[in-house]
Formats: sequence, structure tokens, C-alpha cells
Amino acid sequence: MARHFLRDDDLTPAEQARVLDIADDMKRDRFLHRPLAGPRTVALIFDKPSTRTRLSFAVGVADLGGSPLVLDTASTQMGRGEPLEDTARVLERQVAAVVWRTFAQSDLEALAAYTSVPVVNSLTDEFHPCQILADLQTVREHKGTLAGLTLAYLGDGANNMAHSYLLGGATAGLHVRVGAPEGHLPDPEVVARATEIAESTRGSVTVTTDPGEAARGADVLATDTWVSMGQEDEAAEREAPFRPYAIDAALLSAAHPAAIVLHCLPAYRGKEISAEVLDGPRSVVWDEAENRRHAQKALLAFLLEASDKAGTDRR
Ligand code: CP
Ligand code: NVA
Repeated sequence: MARHFLRDDDLTPAEQARVLDIADDMKRDRFLHRPLAGPRTVALIFDKPSTRTRLSFAVGVADLGGSPLVLDTASTQMGRGEPLEDTARVLERQVAAVVWRTFAQSDLEALAAYTSVPVVNSLTDEFHPCQILADLQTVREHKGTLAGLTLAYLGDGANNMAHSYLLGGATAGLHVRVGAPEGHLPDPEVVARATEIAESTRGSVTVTTDPGEAARGADVLATDTWVSMGQEDEAAEREAPFRPYAIDAALLSAAHPAAIVLHCLPAYRGKEISAEVLDGPRSVVWDEAENRRHAQKALLAFLLEASDKAGTDRR
């Protein structure tokens, strides 16, 4: 059985810590691990636009000694409705791993169920777990630790980033707070799962509609666009409810004086974050974007090792 990474809680706390340690090692030495030497190929499939994910996986796979194959779904038979089950069987005969950015988490899970090589979620409507690994690496670099810190995410509480901060943050032992308006709160099942994880890691989970309560004393503030990919038609109505949750100088002043600010990017200055904060001294977003590569290389190395040990062919 291959090890997949479909959502943040597919890694145990110990496994997540191991991946973050490998990520730090890889950041120090780009060619430290070469599990894809051969080269073995990794398929990077995109149903949605991407800059950072495409770049960081393509460069990262090459760093690991492999060959990245970037596919836009529309140019494949997937775009013409070939069943996922058939696509999965074709992919596993050619590549060492599949990285897929798509809409429904259930489609990603279906592909993984039919595939004997690792499948990685590079963003669905529900989760963005690779981003959270990079975010955790970034927080640890700047704060020296993870467990016990407070991370407050403000804005769209129902999107992929909110859900991944809940699961991935709880796994790391963070106190995760989500500040979001009514109607845009996280999926209760994700909150319940994050709370369960937090009980074992001594973290905690708080969901509030009060942005000041979420931000107060936080070590890390994070936000994301109010209009995720696929929601473009709702852009006009997706502004007013979120305005009180924008990270600006006033909200930042409620956080810990040494707080850092995360944004997965792309950012919309003047909407979910002010230019002053995004481009200011507390922002670590460029480190965060760079760390996508190191964290994903570590993840791939971990999944490939776990899967190869489990007897998966070395494609
Ligand atoms: N943060 C992120 O996933 O960026 P892209 O959409 O550019 O890949
Ligand atoms: N929530 C955003 C994240 C982009 C990286 C989206 O899904 O569009």
C-alpha cells in the first residue's frame, strides 16, 4: 500500500515533525536526498491555476533527482471525462508519485484509492496540506518552536486554508484560532477532528466570529483570499462580510508584539491584508513561498520511503 497525503491528518504528529526536520535539512543542502534518481517521474496535474505549487514541485522533483511531468487536466483525457479509476491505473504504470490540484476532495480520494503510488493533495476545495507544511516550517524558523504557539487565521473560515490550519496546526500542537463571519465558519467535522488531535498534542482549537478575540496575543496571524479558485462568480458578495477580518495595522497591533504574518499567496492588497502589513517587517510570506519547495521535497522523500518499504515498485 502506498502512503498518500490527502489531508493534513494523514501524517501523525511524529511523522509531521519528521517531515519538517527533513525539510530543514533539505533547505540547508538542496541535493541531500535523491530518492527519485534514475530519474523517476512525478506527475504534477493541475485542474486549477498555480504559480507557487507548480514551480516548487517541479524544481523540488528535479532536486530529488527525478523528472517532473506537469500536466494541465484540460489537455489530458481526464478533461474529457475519462474515469478516475482508469486514469489511476494508467498513471501508476508510469510514475513514482502523483501530485494533483483539483476541486473535490472526494475525487482526490478516489484517485488515491485506485493508485498504488503515493498521491499528494496540492490543493482541493477542502484542504491545502502542502501549504501548511511550508507554513509550519516557516513558523519554526522564525519562532524556534511550534507546540504551544498561538496561530490565528482570519477571513474565510470555510476554505481549504482554514481547514488545513485546523488539522495541520493541531497536529503540530499549536493553539489554532479561526476568526470568521457567520456563514463562513469551518466544517464542523474538521473542527471536531482538529479538536481530537489537539487533545493529544496539547494544542487547542477555537472558532470565533470576533476578529479581535482571534488575534489577541497571537504569535502568528494568517489569512487568505476571500475568493478562492472556483468562487469567482461570487466575488462581489464575498467582500463585505469579511472586511472586519482583514489583517491591517490595527488588527496586527492586537497580536503579540513579535507576531509574524503568513499568507499563502496570491495576496490581494487592500482586501484580506493591507499592503502595509504584507510588505512590512512582520510579514514572512516570501520565506513561506520558498519553503513550499523544501517542505514538499521532504514530504515526497518521506512518502516514497514509506511506500517503497511497503513493497511498491520503484517506478
Ligand atoms: N499558495 C499557492 O498554492 O500558490 P499557487 O496557487 O500559486 O500554487
Ligand atoms: N484558498 C485559495 C488558496 C490559493 C492558494 C484558493 O483555493 O484559491
